[in-house]
This record gives sequence, structure tokens and C-alpha cells, in this order.
Amino acid sequence: MGKGYYISKQLAVTAVLLAAVAVITIIALSIVYSKEKAKNELKLNNGTTSPASPTSPPSNEPWDKYRLPDTLSPQYYNVTLWPQLTMDSQGMYIFTGESGVAFTCVRETDLILIHCHKLNLTLFEGWHAKLMGMHNTEAPAIRKTWFQKETQYLVIQLEGTLKPEKVYWLYTEFRGELADDLEGFYRSEYEENGVKKVLAITQMQATSARKAFPCFDEPAMKAIFHITLIHEPGTVALSNSQDIDSENLKMNGHDVIRTRFEPTKRMSTYLVAFIVCEFTYTSKQKDNKDVMVRIWARKNAIEEGQGDYALNITQPILEFFEKYYNASYPLSKSDQIALPDFNAGAMENWGLVTYRETALLFDPQTSANGNKQRIATVVAHELAHMWFGNLVTLKWWNDLWLNEGFASYVEYLGADYAEPTWNMKDQIILYDIYRAFAVDSLVSSHPLSCKEEEVNTPAEISQMFNTISYSKGAAVLRMLSQFLTETVFAKGLSTYLNQFAFGSSTYSDLWDHLQNAADKTPHLKLPHRVHDIMNRWILQMGFPVITIDTQTGNVSQKHFLLEPNSVVERSSEFNYEWFIPIKWMKSGVEQEQLWLLQKSAMHKPLKPGKEEWVLANLNVSGYYRVNYDIENWKRLLDQLTTNHQKIPVINRAQILDDAFTLARASIINVTLALRMTKYLSMEREYIPWEAALRSLSSLYEVFDRNEVYGPMQAYLRKQVKPLFDHFTSVTANWTTVPAGHTDQFTQIIALSLACSTGVQECSDLTKGWFRQWMQDPEHNRIHPNLRSTVYCNAIAAGGVEEWDFCWKMFKKVTIAAEAVKLRSALSCTKQPWLLNRFLEYTLDPEKIRKQDATSVIGSIASNVVGQPLAWDFVRARWEYLFKVYGTGSFSFSRLISDVTARFCTPFELHQLKQFQKDNADVGFGSASQALQQAIEKTTARIKWLAENKEQVLKWFISETA
Ligand SMILES: *[C@@H]1O[C@H](CO)[C@@H](O)[C@H](O)[C@H]1NC(C)=O
Ligand SMILES: *[C@@H]1O[C@H](CO)[C@@H](O)[C@H](O)[C@H]1NC(C)=O
Ligand SMILES: *[C@@H]1O[C@H](CO)[C@@H](O)[C@H](O)[C@H]1NC(C)=O
Ligand SMILES: *[C@@H]1O[C@H](CO)[C@@H](O)[C@H](O)[C@H]1NC(C)=O
Ligand SMILES: [Zn+2]
Repeated sequence: MGKGYYISKQLAVTAVLLAAVAVITIIALSIVYSKEKAKNELKLNNGTTSPASPTSPPSNEPWDKYRLPDTLSPQYYNVTLWPQLTMDSQGMYIFTGESGVAFTCVRETDLILIHCHKLNLTLFEGWHAKLMGMHNTEAPAIRKTWFQKETQYLVIQLEGTLKPEKVYWLYTEFRGELADDLEGFYRSEYEENGVKKVLAITQMQATSARKAFPCFDEPAMKAIFHITLIHEPGTVALSNSQDIDSENLKMNGHDVIRTRFEPTKRMSTYLVAFIVCEFTYTSKQKDNKDVMVRIWARKNAIEEGQGDYALNITQPILEFFEKYYNASYPLSKSDQIALPDFNAGAMENWGLVTYRETALLFDPQTSANGNKQRIATVVAHELAHMWFGNLVTLKWWNDLWLNEGFASYVEYLGADYAEPTWNMKDQIILYDIYRAFAVDSLVSSHPLSCKEEEVNTPAEISQMFNTISYSKGAAVLRMLSQFLTETVFAKGLSTYLNQFAFGSSTYSDLWDHLQNAADKTPHLKLPHRVHDIMNRWILQMGFPVITIDTQTGNVSQKHFLLEPNSVVERSSEFNYEWFIPIKWMKSGVEQEQLWLLQKSAMHKPLKPGKEEWVLANLNVSGYYRVNYDIENWKRLLDQLTTNHQKIPVINRAQILDDAFTLARASIINVTLALRMTKYLSMEREYIPWEAALRSLSSLYEVFDRNEVYGPMQAYLRKQVKPLFDHFTSVTANWTTVPAGHTDQFTQIIALSLACSTGVQECSDLTKGWFRQWMQDPEHNRIHPNLRSTVYCNAIAAGGVEEWDFCWKMFKKVTIAAEAVKLRSALSCTKQPWLLNRFLEYTLDPEKIRKQDATSVIGSIASNVVGQPLAWDFVRARWEYLFKVYGTGSFSFSRLISDVTARFCTPFELHQLKQFQKDNADVGFGSASQALQQAIEKTTARIKWLAENKEQVLKWFISETA
């Protein structure tokens, strides 16, 4: 999905530091389906009950297989839908529709399987569908039809056979429920000027188009769609293509409008979209040959100018990708729409991209620059899919990583083009590469790519939308483009898109094209073919840590595991060895790139002179970690403390992140990692501070409930004070914000870390600002950038009065980004009863929207006081939570990792295992993997804590004495 089904890559300087120093929320990525009870179960057709009942073991019948047979190939669909935005007499919202599909028979068959889920076919009693031959072909009669519920087919058996190369027309009429289940064709509600409004929208990816109309619902089954929408006067209808005409007419006694749309390009069912709403838009078209770009949203939001920022950047981003892919935008228009109720962060429907409001709307009055950055990256991500993913589509969901990893990589390039001063390209380190490292260093990780046969059911498909696919995908593609060079990478990409336009491909097709481009580039020397290099990164899980011994020039590699004693059960045909490109520098001077192609090798240049240091993985262009002999570590440490600017910014972050992670895995001593943080008192750049903060957060996770906490706070207070003072002076005593984009992020870090470590000036500031606002609620003078931090600190320091004020503001606010800040601040209170009351609110959709419930529970858990309460809450209500959120992926599995983030005692491990046992019958759905990871991480933490606690305590005490 766009940054897909629900995206939420949090720049949360992890909540742990301060209850929730939810600093800047950048894209989050996760999937939730909130499932209503299946109200509209389909009845099987009378007399023709399913030959195999859904619970019986899969038979060999074609209708028991999840994949369509290769007998039929769709050409085009004619779909007319009428969503009804008022409740019917039975208290249901419904839509009705009719749909025809023209398909070619590829192999002779007497069977038609077409996906159809939760639709009541209403054509006429018993038959469900009409079949005709086209172009004078005669169609065989229908023998019988039924629904195969498990595999979600309408099965049509024929008296005779369909003949190869002949074209047939299958026609159906149907009714479906317009539920608020956030998938397929569904409804969303919001209030405008005190009036409840209902809109009808779609989310088809991955397997929900079949809930809107019967279709061959696989990505490679591309077809052309002629869409018509029937809607009430006063509403607009949107779809992938431009509308051709609108006609007023009467249907069943209603006045309605019928809007027809141009036929689409050949495309996949999962990218189809249609919307009926009362929104309006803002648009800009310089001249007629420009693509028409429109940003749609609630009327109030558009009138307040909240769509302007997205509109401003869309044209430049489209321009960038046209140049980058060397292919013009494939469609005649680009609509982007912000939806009040949307589980995905965004979805790249071709020509009609849907977004959560926070991912598209920017309010200059209240939005932080972090919100702006999120918009730029999500828009760039979705627009990148217009070519990669939509024009050329991966044949099957097992290759989802390539689609999503690619978009997650180039989103930084697109955003960088639109906002050249933001330093976007470097930030991929923070939001994708570190995230990928974190999950990929566990034995419970999995390879990027899996075999086509391993991904069949909708649940298996939905599991593909995970951090590995998005973030590791981005990391390895970035590495590939860096060792090929951007130019060669873009060349290969362009010929690939050309060859497969309007069709589908596999990852190996892309490797072919990149190899071709590489072969045509005389100076480019690769040690192996692209296939051979890349397959090691995509077919085996994990990544290496390389160790450079500068005493000898030896460099070796090893599969990096966070828990060194864990046993890797998954075998790899490559024995967990990689072909590793090593960009490096010697004492500040970049050297020629090396390749490590074996387990271990001598590279004489890696043995520098006496005073020189070696730094490998320059700009973290490779997906691996680096360790050195102790002498070299010490020289790097010296360089950091004497003149840190001689080491590139990204690598300062990397040294910290590698050192802490290696210490965490007991590869280096934890005090060595801690010593790296001493130079922070001089650091003013965002990326290293953010990296440091994340490493320190994981220390807080294990130390914020024991005696290390005090000395650790004292040390960090000392380290952050200069940064805090720096911003006090550059912002004229916190009355302005710094000019630089990332400096504004650093300012937030200064404030939140100073407050959370108890710098008195900081808490005076934040309390004062909040008090001012409470006294004059109509005028919030707190700078948007600082709001998350200020709210959180004020709520943490305050009591019920502050909390209730914040809640009142949360319920009143109409700007989604502001609502998120208020909502996460509510979880910062230190009062258990307030936290428990807030937890209860998550069960009531009137108080907390379903799409936000798991994230509220998660942020309560990140508060040291709230963590045990959230854990109890989740355990007590597992059955309910599972039922409502269990089939989605991201946010649900995050719930588990959030509530278990601090687990580090044998007793907690025991509880976790007990929880697993107790709920074996309910299940864990998309959180199963997260649960496994939680057990693995807890086990590792227990051991690590036992070995390191004393040293850490001593070190902090000695540094603050
Ligand atoms: C339902 O099935 C029964 C038994 O096969 C048959 O007698 C009856 O006519 C069927 N009814 C309809 C509406 O198809
Ligand atoms: C499908 O719709 C198109 C466009 O409205 C129309 O030209 C075509 O005849 C329709 N096909 C069938 C089989 O009804
Ligand atoms: C579909 O049919 C079932 C069974 O008759 C019924 O309960 C359900 O309400 C119907 N759904 C719609 C949307 O009409
Ligand atoms: C959009 O662009 C216009 C014209 O360049 C500019 O005046 C305006 O401030 C921009 N809006 C936002 C929200 O960036
Ligand atoms: Zn995407």
C-alpha cells in the first residue's frame, strides 16, 4: 500500500525518554483493519452448497486453491455502483451495483472462478450471474453456481466449455454493506459545522476489491475499468480517471446524479478507487499540457488552506519522478484526498491517492515542521508508486518488498527535490535503516523475498506489509543504487519500466535491467552479477557485522544477532555470508571502495599509519554494522572529542548507533559505547542527536525502574545542558524558532531531553506556556513545533485539571495533526487513575476512534507509570482486541512490542509466556511475530542486564561525580 495500509513511522524519540516525548510524528507504517462483526455473511446458494465446507482440509479442487487458475484473462470491466449515504430501514448502510467483465479464455475450461466477498448477488434467484459470448461467440449455459467462502470465490460451473481466444461477458448485480470496516467499499463519518456527514470510500489493497464488485482480484490480472457512480445531488464522485459526464436522473424515486468516468489504463484491481463525498478541492494548473493536480478534503480544511502545502509540492515531485524514471506521468490527472477515517497512512490508488488527514493536510497555524516533512515524504512515496507499482506491477504479493522498499527509498529523493534544504536524503538512516536493523537482528526475522507459493491467503498477504518489506527493502535498494551509482540505477529502472509498462514483472526482471545498464557503463566494475550480489541480501534474513582489524588489515564478516547466543533455525543457501561493498575513509579522506566477498580477507589499505583512523560504511550506504579493533575505536573516540566535524554527520550517528548496538549484543564493552556520548555536549546536528537519543532510550527501557536511573539522568542532564543553552540563545530565549529545518528538530530534542532529565529552566518554560494557554484557551501561543513536548511535559507535571483541559481541547480540535499531539500528551500523566481511565476510553469509539485505539494503548505503555497498567489492560481484554484489530498487521503487532518494551526480568518473561499459553486458543493473528520477538528480546535483556548493570551504574556515577 501506499506507505500503505496504515503508515506510522514515528520519529517518536521514543516515548520512553519522557513519558512520551512524541517529538515529531513522521510516517508511521502499519495496518489495521478494524473488523466489525461480519454482519453480512453470505448465504450459500440453496441446493448447491459448497462441495467442501470451509473448515474441511483443502481439496485439490480449483475452488479450494487461493490462486486463480490460468484459464481466463480479464480485458475490461463495466462497473456501476450506488453507495447510499443514509441508513436504510434495517439500520444498515448499503451500496448496490452491477458489474460486467469481458474476459478472454486462455485455456479451454468449463469453470469460471471470480473473486467475490461479502456481496449478495441479486440478479435472480439461484444463478447469480449471466454469461454471454462476445463478438458472435456462443456461451455455454451455467450448470450451477455457489460461493466458496474460504477462498472468496463465486464459482460458476458450465454445461459446456469456454473456447480459447474467445471473449465472454460475465454480468452480475449485487448489494453490499457500506460498513465502517475500513476495507473494500466502506463508509466514513465526520462532523462539519455540527452536522454529521457520511462519505463512501475504498481501500482495495490487498484483497478487498472483491468486496466492492466481483473481479479477478490478483495484481497480475490487469484490465481496463469503466466506472460509473450514482450519487446524491450535492455530493461529488471521484475515481481513478477523469469524469466524462454527469447526468441528473431518477432512480427508484430518488433524484440522483450519474457520473461516468473515462476508461482507465490497464491496471490491477487493488489500485481501483472510488469515492462519493461532499469534499471540495484546491488545484493548480500552470498550462494545459500540465497534469491536472487537485487536493481534496473537507470543505473547512480546504477553505483554511490546509491543502496548499500538498498542492505546492505535488507538481515538483511529479516532475522529479518524470525525470528520474525518464517516463512521463502515465495519467491525465492526479487527485489526492485526505480522509477523516483511514487506516492506512496512504494508499497509492492510481490517479486517486487516499491519505490520512495528517499525511496530507498542513495547517500553517498549528502544524509543526515535522508534520510538513511527513506530508512531503508520504506524498513522494505515493507518487513514486504511480510508475513503480502501478504502471509496472509486481506479479504477486511475495514481491511486495520490492514495490514498497523501492517507494520507501525514492520517497527521500522526491521529497529532497521538493525541499532541497531539508537534508532529506540523510534522514533515511533514522526512519528506515535503523528500523530495519532493529527487527532484522533477531532470529525471528525473515528474508525480504519469499517464494510465490508461500504467500496465498489474504492473511499471508497482509503479513507482507511489514518493516522488513518497507524499511529493509529501502535499505538494500539504496545500497544497490549507491554501488551501481545513481545514474546506472536510474537507467536500468527506466528500461525496466518501459519494457513492463501496463504489465507485471518479478524482482529478477529488475536485476536484469540493472545488469544491462551496468554492462553498458565502462568504468563500473562489479565483482559479481547484480543477481548474485543482491540475492544474498534478499534471500537470506539478517545482515552482517564486519570487523576491521586495523592492526593487520584483516576484515571479516559475521551474521549480526542482537542476542549472540540465539540459535538461527532458518538455514540459508549462502550460509549467512554476503557480498559487501565497503565505502570507507582514512582520517577524514575518502578511499577507494572495497568489496568483502568472503568470510574474511586481508585488505592492506585497511592498516593505516600510527595516528590514523579508519571509518567504514561511509554515509551508511551499506546495510551492515561495523566493529573495529579497540585501538581504532579509541582513535575514533579521540577524533570525536577533539574535532567531531572531521567525521561526516551520518557517520557520527552511525558510530553511536553501531557502538550501542554492538554493546547490546555483548560484542564490545558497554562503557566504550557510553564514552562515545561524551562528545554530545559539543554536537549541534540533528541526526547524531536523534541517533543518540534512540540508543539512550533503549538504555532507559532497562534502567528507568532501578538504581541506574538517577545517575543516568544526572549525566544526560549535563550532556544536554549546552544544547539547551545553545537554543536558548539562538531563539532569543525561546521566542523564535531556528531557521534550519533540521535545526528545528534539534531544538525539540533539546527541549524534550532537558525537560525529561530535569533541567529546571525547561520545566519552568513548558509549565508556563501551558498555563498561559489554559488561561486563554482560544489563543494557543505555543509554537507548533514544540507543542508535543510542551503538552506532554505539562500533563506529566500536572494533575486532573491539566488532563481534563487537554482532553477537552482534543475533543474540540478539527485539525488532525493537532489532535495527534494532544492525544499522545494525554498518555504522559503520572497518575495511574487517569491512565486507567484513558485506557478504558480506547474501548469506546465515541471517545477514541477505532483507528487510534492501539496507538493510544501503546503510548500509555511507553510511560513508565502506564506500562504495567497497559500490560494488564491488554491481557484482560485480549479477546476483544484480537477480534477488533487482530487481522491487520502493523499497529496491532506494535501494540505487543510497545507494552513489552521494558520487559527485562525473569518474572516478566514468565508472564509473557503465560500470556502466550493462555491465549493460544484466541490466537495472536498479525501479532504472532511480534510476540515471538518480544520473548526473544526479553530473554536477551535479562541476560544483558545481569552482565552490564554494575558497569553502567559505575560509569554514570564516575561521570557525574
Ligand atoms: C432449494 O433446494 C431445494 C432442494 O434441493 C429445492 O427443492 C428448492 O427448489 C431450492 N430452492 C430454490 C429457491 O432454489
Ligand atoms: C462497457 O462500457 C463501455 C463504456 O460505457 C461501453 O462502450 C461498452 O459497450 C460496455 N460494454 C458492454 C459489454 O456493455
Ligand atoms: C445479504 O444477505 C444476508 C442474508 O440474506 C442478509 O443478512 C444481509 O443483510 C444481506 N446484505 C445486504 C447488504 O443486503
Ligand atoms: C505554497 O506556495 C505559495 C506560492 O509559492 C506560497 O505563497 C505559499 O506560502 C505556499 N504554501 C505553503 C503552505 O507552503
Ligand atoms: Zn507504498
